[in-house]
Amino acid sequence: MDILVLGGGGREHALAWAIRRNPKCGRLFVAPGNAGTAALARNVALDPADGAAVVAFARAEGIGFVVVGPEAPLVAGVADALAAAGIAVLGPSAAAARLEASKTFTKEVCAATGAPTAAWAAFDDEAAALAHLRRRGAPVVVKADGLAAGKGVTVAATVAAAAAAVTAAFAGAFGAAGRRVLLEDVLAGEEASLFVLCDGTTALALGSAVDYKRAFDGDAGPNTGGMGAHSPAPALTAAVEARAMATIVRPVVAEMARRGTPFRGILYAGLMVAAGIPRLVEFNVRFGDPEAQVLMMRLGGQALDLMLACAEGRLAAARVDWADDHALTVVMATRGYPGPHGTGSVIGGLDRLPGDSRRMLFHAATERRGGEVVAAGGRVLAATGRGATLAEARARAYGLAAAVDWPEGFYRHDIGDGAPGRPR
Ligand code: AMP
Ligand code: GLY
Repeated sequence: MDILVLGGGGREHALAWAIRRNPKCGRLFVAPGNAGTAALARNVALDPADGAAVVAFARAEGIGFVVVGPEAPLVAGVADALAAAGIAVLGPSAAAARLEASKTFTKEVCAATGAPTAAWAAFDDEAAALAHLRRRGAPVVVKADGLAAGKGVTVAATVAAAAAAVTAAFAGAFGAAGRRVLLEDVLAGEEASLFVLCDGTTALALGSAVDYKRAFDGDAGPNTGGMGAHSPAPALTAAVEARAMATIVRPVVAEMARRGTPFRGILYAGLMVAAGIPRLVEFNVRFGDPEAQVLMMRLGGQALDLMLACAEGRLAAARVDWADDHALTVVMATRGYPGPHGTGSVIGGLDRLPGDSRRMLFHAATERRGGEVVAAGGRVLAATGRGATLAEARARAYGLAAAVDWPEGFYRHDIGDGAPGRPR
């Protein structure tokens, strides 16, 4: 079967790497891809969010299965376009992708199902939001309703900090995403992410991960798209996972079906776990980046069979074969990220790195220029290790990162330290 992966980050390199390990994979394309995916697939210059162009390419190449990496193409309706063309796709319809595209939509679905989440109020008007804020006080979480590339959330310790976030959102800091603002309670506990395959009716837990969102060691610095991850998440014991499936995921999947917008694809539940009770922080409708790197490292080639079963509505008969292993990934970013930074710095030492099922340097924003690989964005590489223990996975990942010759890059040195859970 010929397969197309949409996206060009570390997540998509990891997806392509796992798919490639499955003998069912014929030709493999990644659009647009990066210097890493070019080593195991054909990169295609195609806008992943252009449904008509994606369908035309898939038809021309006889693609049998499309895996959508990022959220933007899903929100733009690319899965709808592929489904209408009769091409199997992993990823929800635009209507179901609202679980990521609108935080108030998700809150309403939670309210309809009783899924536990932080108490909230939504405002389309700055004065009303500020008045509510003064009444309720701090600490409080301020969120832009729409997609803001991970930047639309402020956990504010004071009313002044929260008010500044409210004002910034209504002043357009997050574009249209910030025209509606949520104020919600701060949830305490340990954060963990649960990844669930959903085929519209059946939900199958695929694995868990802990994501390190802050830029610097000790959870200092600004929020990023994710500076590292490990899998499994210690907070998601079998009992907690079962509880999250029973109280959050399955009721939401049933509610989406009842509304006539069944959810088909990866449901990523960002959870806060306190005293064994998981509460929903947010949904995403795709794999995380860098969480996909650790999940794919652990799943290997079976990831393709599971994703296909999901796309084809066969999850009721599917099973995940988990090894009792761990994976950890360290994101290497250009100095300055997530703020302003340059591009084009040369990355050396790549040729002598090992690449196998225990150690993989996934590429995120890289491109080949002449004979060299250069950085092409903020998050550039994800050094990933797998092992029998977290410590072994960690040593392999950090060994890889240290072998990369890239003076313009930086990475956190404390991914996986202080497990269980993320340092706070
Ligand atoms: P989100 O984009 O909704 O995942 O939010 C980004 C991050 O903000 C989350 O990963 C949490 O660390 C934090 N966060 C969001 N909502 C809450 C909340 N209600 N309580 C505590 N932390 C939160
Ligand atoms: N690493 C967080 C995300 O992909 O949303």
